[in-house]
Amino acid sequence: MTKGMKILTIEDPKEEKILREKSTSVQEKELKNKEFQQFLDDLLQTAIESEEPAGGLASPQVGILKRVFYILNYDTDKWELFINPIVEPVGFKKKAIAEACLSIPNREGKVERNYRVKVKYIDRYGNRKTKKYEDLNAISIQHENDHLEGILFTDKILEE
Ligand code: CO
Repeated sequence: MTKGMKILTIEDPKEEKILREKSTSVQEKELKNKEFQQFLDDLLQTAIESEEPAGGLASPQVGILKRVFYILNYDTDKWELFINPIVEPVGFKKKAIAEACLSIPNREGKVERNYRVKVKYIDRYGNRKTKKYEDLNAISIQHENDHLEGILFTDKILEE
């Protein structure tokens, strides 16, 4: 049984404080833990069930400060999980689109991101992966990865 979790927002100062913290890496032995696997399912359920359609959700957004996030892949329409991701730019091309965030209700703003990224991460079974993404998927990954550092998109909004 999966359960949706409460999504923290900056509207509550206590919740904002958590959203501003840096998350810690997942230990490989944690992946064998049933509760941790359940948490991964619950986090996905939370993303799927969110009131506003979500393009991604990071673990600190439900108050769990671990280096875990999901994105909804725009090309495949499937959710993808990233654990302990390391995100690197590929090339110099940038793209700016209006972003939004479940943790920052009623706010949108243009942010410039790398157009292509490479991500190294582990999957839920501990397998090491490296994948390249571009365009909206790359932007989602950078947005979610920022959450793991306590960075919110509103920190990066371009001056119009
Ligand atoms: Co967000």
